Amino acid sequence: MSDLTDDLDTSKQKKLYIKTYGCQMNVYDSERMAESLGPSGYVATDTAEDADMVLINTCHIREKASEKLFSDLGRLRPLKLANPNLKIGVTGCVAQAEGAEILRRMPLVDLVVGPQSYHRLPQMEAEVALGKRAIDTDFPLEDKFDHLPKRTALRGPSAFVTVQEGCDKFCAFCVVPYTRGAEVSRPADRLISEVRTLVENGVRDITLLGQNVNAYHGAAPQGGADWGLAELIRGLACIDGLARIRYMTSHPNDMQDGLIAAHGDCEKLMPYLHLPVQSGSDRILRAMNRKHTTADYLRVIERMRDARPDLMISSDFIVGFPGETDADFQETLALVHAVRYGQAYSFKYSARPGTPAAEKIAVPDDVAHARLQELQALLSEQQRALQDEMVGREVSVLYDKPGRREGQMVGKSDHLHAVSVQDPNGHVGQLVRVKVVEAVTNSLKAVPVAL
Ligand code: SAH
Ligand code: SF4
Ligand code: F3S
Repeated sequence: MSDLTDDLDTSKQKKLYIKTYGCQMNVYDSERMAESLGPSGYVATDTAEDADMVLINTCHIREKASEKLFSDLGRLRPLKLANPNLKIGVTGCVAQAEGAEILRRMPLVDLVVGPQSYHRLPQMEAEVALGKRAIDTDFPLEDKFDHLPKRTALRGPSAFVTVQEGCDKFCAFCVVPYTRGAEVSRPADRLISEVRTLVENGVRDITLLGQNVNAYHGAAPQGGADWGLAELIRGLACIDGLARIRYMTSHPNDMQDGLIAAHGDCEKLMPYLHLPVQSGSDRILRAMNRKHTTADYLRVIERMRDARPDLMISSDFIVGFPGETDADFQETLALVHAVRYGQAYSFKYSARPGTPAAEKIAVPDDVAHARLQELQALLSEQQRALQDEMVGREVSVLYDKPGRREGQMVGKSDHLHAVSVQDPNGHVGQLVRVKVVEAVTNSLKAVPVAL
């Protein structure tokens, strides 16, 4: 890194600030966008105030998420007035859904690029530098990943790697199939070499990302039948120095036998599964076009727990979907009781323009709100109980960074619990065995185990 920066003429250096909303795929995209603008002279900065270019990497999933773009643009207006050379770009899923409209209504925006075409950012930046405005919201046929520079910017021992993008499922409430397009999987050999580079740079823990990651089917390294996610995980597990593999987000209908089996015998595959169910009512699941029942979902969980008894399960829920009755909601609570979740996200339904459910009559807001409160109370009670059960157990922790206290290290356990350890000799990137001594709100305290 330092060699590279020494060679650069620092007087030509420009500062790039990226604000990221939404899912982990946006986090990954932001890193790749920053890397792609490196050769154009951009280095990262932590504030919009001293930036030459600000990119807002947006999320369209719920109304509240997409509204953040407009409040951010409002805050950037005085900066742009003070510095007309400041370039402002909108990227991500709102850019994809409303790009042309944003450019039309927001004169301060110089650049709009969707999630499938951000490999074209360097050319667009060059146009913008000449005072033009640029927009690209195509779904190009070329593989954007082939046009991105090799990965360099690494922070800590954990990294995300996008292996699959897009979605063909068309749940009635969801914008992702429209903003991210059809399902595409990256070839396995490219992923193996991307992960090798990460590991050579100190990464020990990777999370494979995709809107439907378990539908992964990428070209196999030596030709022949495509690899599924299980083959990819086994291929990556052969990389020396890589200690942990996780993946998200999965759809219950794509939980194949091979993947379930991998949880039983692949040591590097962590005992954690994010498997959204959305609702516990079959009637609502049908209206959501989820294409599975609660019984199908529970069967997958049972098979997963047979393969890996200590598996931690997490989920996403939507309450107040159009037509949801009290009885439907009670079924969601019953499903939560049946599964016992270690972690979960729950949302009030938000009507999204262009999705089939947006046409339906919404549940009154106060009813949806009360249901969300009740569900969240149950989910946090379960999360807390499962966390308390960790006390007294030995777990592995990968240190991410030093803690706030002197001599303290913090990291994640196999089950993705945040753990703090009093370990003055510990260092970032170290994988240690520890004994959990206390469960506090949202984290565990532990001490190193003498070997
Ligand atoms: N691919 C994943 C999730 C993608 S979006 C899956 O299949 O489950 C992440 C979560 O946002 C979803 O699981 C859902 O719970 C929530 N979500 C999506 N659209 C929503 C909407 N219109 N209103 C409220 N929540 C929504
Ligand atoms: Fe959205 Fe459904 Fe696709 Fe998940 S599976 S991204 S919820 S359409
Ligand atoms: Fe949001 Fe797009 Fe991710 S809508 S959740 S940033 S795929």
